[in-house]
Amino acid sequence: MIVMEAEQRERLIQEAMQVRHWAYAPYSHYKVGAAALASSGKIYSGVNVENAAYPSGICAERVAIFKAVSEGEREILALVVATDNGGTPCGACRQVISEFGPQAEVCLVDQNGNLVLETSIDQLLPGAFGPEKLNQ
Ligand code: THU
Repeated sequence: MIVMEAEQRERLIQEAMQVRHWAYAPYSHYKVGAAALASSGKIYSGVNVENAAYPSGICAERVAIFKAVSEGEREILALVVATDNGGTPCGACRQVISEFGPQAEVCLVDQNGNLVLETSIDQLLPGAFGPEKLNQ
């Protein structure tokens, strides 16, 4: 579902591109910046943070969303991810995006901020495992 106005999308693109410079990716050299729009209207950004013990690193999308959630947000409306080439979010990130934004709009941009793909998490992760599957 497309929820962002063009101007709002542009703000998220700028934010994702700016923070991307702070990505800590000395091992893969694949820098990723993400900007998440929460239902409060606030924008939360994140970068990938790698580690010499490789599996201890984390993707930019999850950093942005976990920052939002840890500041009281519970709903993500949209996410912009900036990479070299407009790469798509990994499986683990898709699951986390889906948890907090089952209808979230997802935009992928390249290093110059060109929109490579505008889609939604339900397109990226059809049949997601969600909270409704648990007895609670
Ligand atoms: N990465 C992300 O930050 N987001 C993704 O969705 C894909 C991969 C990061 C993880 C690692 O630091 C680098 O990109 C190469 O996989």
